[in-house]
Amino acid sequence: MIQLENIRVDFAVRGQSVLAVDDVSLAIERGEVFGIVGASGAGKSTLLRVINLLERPTAGRVRVAGEDITDLRGGELRRARQKIGMIFQHFNLMQNRTVYDNAAYALRVAGKSKAEIARRVPEILRLVGLEDKAQAYPAQLSGGQKQRVGIARAVANHPEVLLCDEPTSALDLETSAAILDLLKEINARLGITIVLISHEMAVIKKICTRVAVMEGGHVVEQGEAYDIFATPQHPFTRQLVEHTLNLELPPHLVDDRQGTILKVLFLGDKAEEGVLSTASIRHGVAVNILHGKIEYIGHRAVGLLVVLLTDSPDAPAGLPFPLRLQAALSYIGSQASHVEVLHD
Ligand SMILES: Nc1ncnc2c1ncn2[C@@H]1O[C@H](COP(=O)(O)OP(=O)(O)OP(=O)(O)O)[C@@H](O)[C@H]1O
Ligand SMILES: [Mg+2]
Repeated sequence: MIQLENIRVDFAVRGQSVLAVDDVSLAIERGEVFGIVGASGAGKSTLLRVINLLERPTAGRVRVAGEDITDLRGGELRRARQKIGMIFQHFNLMQNRTVYDNAAYALRVAGKSKAEIARRVPEILRLVGLEDKAQAYPAQLSGGQKQRVGIARAVANHPEVLLCDEPTSALDLETSAAILDLLKEINARLGITIVLISHEMAVIKKICTRVAVMEGGHVVEQGEAYDIFATPQHPFTRQLVEHTLNLELPPHLVDDRQGTILKVLFLGDKAEEGVLSTASIRHGVAVNILHGKIEYIGHRAVGLLVVLLTDSPDAPAGLPFPLRLQAALSYIGSQASHVEVLHD
């Protein structure tokens, strides 16, 4: 659906050249929700704006829906852009126009007839759940409602692609979740391909099928959202994921314990199976969960647990504890995707 080939963007700032995007190639398939994640200044917005040529690349080619649009100008570019809607972090609504007029704007620019606008606007306001706000002004709306207007405006001309630049960063958690649900529904029901930027893995995790991770103008890693989240390869991605899982233990919880403390990562079915209880019963080792989380990404589980292993009072007589512990550790190691000993 979207092919970016060797995209480079340089900006001139006070005589100095800033390399914002450095040789990025991406292929985004029709119908997917593709995430771009990275720290501030990584080049995410610049790359996104290359897709509709709000930013012209210094080098590289942009193809959307089978058409190379890199060199289009004027009327041809405007026509190509109708295939590509866009929403923004701060909504970018016209403050002195009603919700109806904001939603109608893109249709007017596209030269649609009065009759067609009068038919289409109520339809898109219904789609985003704002049919009763047509005559309100942006200042009378909540942040979530403003973003709904932004979405209505962006999909008015039946685009094939929707570009979303930090669409939920200005919203609280609950409103964010509702907007992400709406985007997901638009993707599924209307078949619109979505490219979404965020600096938060949590957002990416909720709706993206695939992800590219950007750092310093480069894409440092890309793949299925599940794989990026479950088994990040690049140090920067690992740091992002760790931050999202937020499994930092208070130091006293680790230091003052007698016993072996493990951080265990389980993937897929294993995350739901009783690996730890099996280890406990089979080897007579007490397993205490100190901290843990099971996340679901597209129905597949990622489980991260911090557990304390100690001798069990119910252990069968015979094998001494160190041997049972060894056996339990090797069983857990054989079942888990990753085991790290935090303390022993
Ligand atoms: N119009 C511009 N003129 C000059 N430099 C720019 C311009 N736009 C972006 N840059 C620079 O390009 C780099 C990438 O910026 P960009 O806005 O794409 O990053 P980002 O990943 O979207 O960051 P954020 O998460 O803060 O939005 C930065 O160094 C930025 O200062
Ligand atoms: Mg940005």
